[in-house]
Amino acid sequence: MNLLLMGPPGAGKGTQSKRLEGVFGLVQLSTGDMLRAAVKSGSDLGRKAQAIMERGDLVPDDLIIDMISARIEEPDCANGFILDGFPRTVPQAEALAVMLAEKGGKLDHVIELAVDDDAMVQRITGRYTCAGCGQGYHDEFEKPATEGVCDKCGGTEFTRRADDTEDTVRNRLNAYHEQTAPILAYYKEQGVLKDVDGMADIDAVTDQLKGVIGGA
Ligand code: AP5
Repeated sequence: MNLLLMGPPGAGKGTQSKRLEGVFGLVQLSTGDMLRAAVKSGSDLGRKAQAIMERGDLVPDDLIIDMISARIEEPDCANGFILDGFPRTVPQAEALAVMLAEKGGKLDHVIELAVDDDAMVQRITGRYTCAGCGQGYHDEFEKPATEGVCDKCGGTEFTRRADDTEDTVRNRLNAYHEQTAPILAYYKEQGVLKDVDGMADIDAVTDQLKGVIGGA
């Protein structure tokens, strides 16, 4: 089974993908995480992407399509994957359709996390991550059980993303509405688009997603 979670920055794509991975035995493919790893490693791709990401603009389609087409050929994707952050433009969606057709696969569900933009700035500027294991938290909505200690690995070092500033978030929201939202119509026409209320609390969103996916 292959899933695609859609929604603007802060909608909860990453949070929910990590939860659904275990439930359905799928692998999360986050193009944002892949690009951040490329920036950290100092690779050619990372050097090209870094300034673009810090502005909140989209990385060119050809770089993203090459990156994801190589990734979905890896063995851990054989049982299916959850796309988080890809596709983000109509050319990316069209390239994905070709990649899946070549593998004899398809998107089983495209699910939009429907949210209010205004709340996304608060979600993103409050987000932080364990430096040890990558577990995500939020200053208000998802705190560790013991303040300053990661629930998952016990780590005490945390990081915030370079693009999680208020100005950059607003640019990322604009990029979403101008370049990514048109994909929703593309999937609606194909009859695969569903939506869930992404403004509900995190557990309630997971339950809605399980209902949509499990009920297919
Ligand atoms: P990317 O990493 O994909 O960022 P994004 O789409 O902006 O999404 P986020 O990770 O910010 O949000 P999310 O929906 O995953 O929210 P999360 O679950 O963390 O991309 C970064 C950059 O890389 C782009 O700007 C671009 O430059 C480049 N890029 C990536 N892919 C590309 C592509 N395909 N093409 C071109 N360029 C590309 O939740 C946010 C916070 O809210 C968390 O703290 C969480 O705890 C909290 N939260 C989540 N759900 C809820 C809830 N229901 N209630 C309360 N709090 C919640």
